Amino acid sequence: MRSTLRILIPIFTLTLFFGCNTVNSDLTIGFLMPDGEGSRWPTDLEYMQEAAEKYDATVISKNANTDENLQIKQATEVLEAGVDVLVVVSVNANTAAAIVREAHNYNVPVIAYDRLIKNSDLDYYITFEGAQIAKLMVDHAIEKVPRGNYVMLWGDPGDVNAISIMNAQNEFLEPHINSGNINIVYKGFVDSWSAENAYHTMTRVLTMTDQKIDVVLTSYDGLARGALQAINEHPNQDIKVLTGQDAEIEALKALLNDELSLTVYKSIKTISGSAMDLAAKLAKGEKITEANATINNGRKEVPSIMLQPQPVDKNSIRSTVIADGYYTEEQVFGE
Ligand code: GAL
Repeated sequence: MRSTLRILIPIFTLTLFFGCNTVNSDLTIGFLMPDGEGSRWPTDLEYMQEAAEKYDATVISKNANTDENLQIKQATEVLEAGVDVLVVVSVNANTAAAIVREAHNYNVPVIAYDRLIKNSDLDYYITFEGAQIAKLMVDHAIEKVPRGNYVMLWGDPGDVNAISIMNAQNEFLEPHINSGNINIVYKGFVDSWSAENAYHTMTRVLTMTDQKIDVVLTSYDGLARGALQAINEHPNQDIKVLTGQDAEIEALKALLNDELSLTVYKSIKTISGSAMDLAAKLAKGEKITEANATINNGRKEVPSIMLQPQPVDKNSIRSTVIADGYYTEEQVFGE
């Protein structure tokens, strides 16, 4: 009798366990990413998949390889496949409005993930405060180099994040420029947030100027990587501050080598977890209470979740990205 029970109890428990899974497993989320290799978005996908486990949800993802038209096609594909909510990191803030229209034809709500979609009936937006990111970079640079020659490399002009960093950096630097303490040698966008484009732009800047550049403010670790490659080819330059964003592993190694001075960490665990919680609530038609801001996208005030970025320099790697479990000690400090 005892031995029969010993066999039956685990079977009963297993049945309950798997039974539960089957009941909840009908949540499907579409996740559209703008590009892949060498960028942060595959990491966001991993975290989205992990966050989906809590809801036993399925994530269908596509990568548009920086092609805005391809992304619109991919939206139709995932909508056809049947998703409850579409989470979009748009290639282009303007043309992605077509994705929102198409999703609404399928009665599927859209969450803009870290990148705003403009002029559309967007349902939700979840991101990190752009002005705050710009402030962290400018404060860091001004503290280290209060007088000197600055270069600013922003991201893709079709991404609202690039524009908001540009606006805020210009505003924070204005008094320093007006007082004559800071001279802007060059400022401009870098298409597709591409490291290679940043390399070419920085090479042009360094070739054209005979001034010594002190600070290069880039808005993404990939851009910093490209800029650094160009800087290293010009040994006559002695750059004191180089910034990035995203706390990519290479950027942390560059911090340790004193090649990069600051990156800005936007917790992917937090944004993906919040996006998944929001998506689950939307799919179940539950009341959303998480929005803590509204952002005007040109058509409406979009209910938004604004998250806080964190500065990471050489001395704060442990208390930020490692403490958050984003990387292990070994990944950062190991060989
Ligand atoms: C932006 C984002 C940056 C960086 C970049 C690279 O939208 O704000 O943090 O990830 O994309 O694709």
